[in-house]
Amino acid sequence: MKIAKASIILILLASCLSCSTANTNKSSITPSLYVKMGQQPALDKIVDNLINIIGNDDVVFGHFADSNITYFRKNLTVFLCHIVDGPCEYSGDTMQDIHRGMYINKNQFNHFVELFIDAMEAAEISYPIQNQLLARLAPLRESIIKI
Ligand code: HEM
Repeated sequence: MKIAKASIILILLASCLSCSTANTNKSSITPSLYVKMGQQPALDKIVDNLINIIGNDDVVFGHFADSNITYFRKNLTVFLCHIVDGPCEYSGDTMQDIHRGMYINKNQFNHFVELFIDAMEAAEISYPIQNQLLARLAPLRESIIKI
């Protein structure tokens, strides 16, 4: 009888330990960038702002003149949602394949990033969150420039 009681206590202790381990899992207590930035409505605002800004921009508009904007809006939104750890799976082409042959140079890339910052600003995204998002876009630079 004593042994049975000890076993039950051990089982309870073990399950309690695994439950506390799960609760200290970083991902369950740290909100994703997607959540911190305001989820889908914030992404929609950024992308809409960006498209309007590009439409009035002399430096990069030429690249988009023949693009399907509905398609671009949808795919860019899903892509951004994916890279901020939102609930989206981006299954489009790689950044390298999409931008291959566009001959995007450094100035155009940097300018695009400035337009992106303006789009985040107009969507009232805070500076720390803007910086976190930019840090996730920065590594794409090499895949997008001049290929
Ligand atoms: C961090 C920077 C960038 C990111 C994250 C990005 C992301 C994307 C994504 C996800 C798409 C796919 C949308 C689609 O399938 O149509 C796309 C398409 C496109 N991107 Fe970029 N892009 C960046 C920089 C640039 C720059 C600098 C230019 C030009 C100066 C550019 C020009 C284009 C164009 C023209 C398309 C549409 C292609 C088409 O018509 O299908 N992108 N971009």
